[in-house]
Amino acid sequence: MATATRPLVTVVVGSTRPIRVGDQITQALAPVIAEEADARVEVVDLRDLDLPLLDEPRMPALGDYAHDHTKDWARTIEASDAVVIVSPQYNGGYPAGLKNAIDFLYAEWKERPVLIVTYGGHGGGMSGAQLRHVLEFIGAAVLPENVEITLKPEFYDADWRLVDAQAAVAEALPALREAAGLLGERAREDERVSA
Ligand SMILES: Cc1cc2nc3c(=O)[nH]c(=O)nc-3n(C[C@H](O)[C@H](O)[C@H](O)COP(=O)(O)O)c2cc1C
Repeated sequence: MATATRPLVTVVVGSTRPIRVGDQITQALAPVIAEEADARVEVVDLRDLDLPLLDEPRMPALGDYAHDHTKDWARTIEASDAVVIVSPQYNGGYPAGLKNAIDFLYAEWKERPVLIVTYGGHGGGMSGAQLRHVLEFIGAAVLPENVEITLKPEFYDADWRLVDAQAAVAEALPALREAAGLLGERAREDERVSA
């Protein structure tokens, strides 16, 4: 039985570049997700996670993980009542590091409620479509609508960071609020809500 406590939503920063905006976007979105989903939110940055290229000797579908970095990552997703993946668009797709992180696990994604948030010059829709394909294939319960954030050139400063992340995400907030509300409902329906 689900308890009356607030679910845990893990928000994954999908970009790992040394100079990037994914961290800024995620920090701007996290409080909105927490409020609308009525959830505890924890941000997991793939750059900090620092996973190597998939180095598990056995297929992740067997769940027989050899490495501590895999077990830690598996525990993070397993403990999440829902996940938000915040991904840029790179060359019409999503980052290789994000695919690598997804592929490390298997059962942990099954029926996990997932919201896809993408960004790019045109909202990152192609990245989102690819992410949806893979996450649905692996059995995640992906929300029906992705949230897209369009980054205009003037949002960037001379160092390729966002001048004002709040302003950059502002147009996407109504869609994010709606999606986060639904994600919270899905997370609470989840019998895994425990803490
Ligand atoms: C390798 C690479 C490929 C990119 N391809 C696209 C693209 O296909 N469409 C797009 O709108 N922007 C593209 N961009 C621009 C990114 O949307 C922009 O750099 C964004 O800040 C990347 O997110 P990040 O800074 O969090 O890594 C690309 C950027 C990089 C680094």
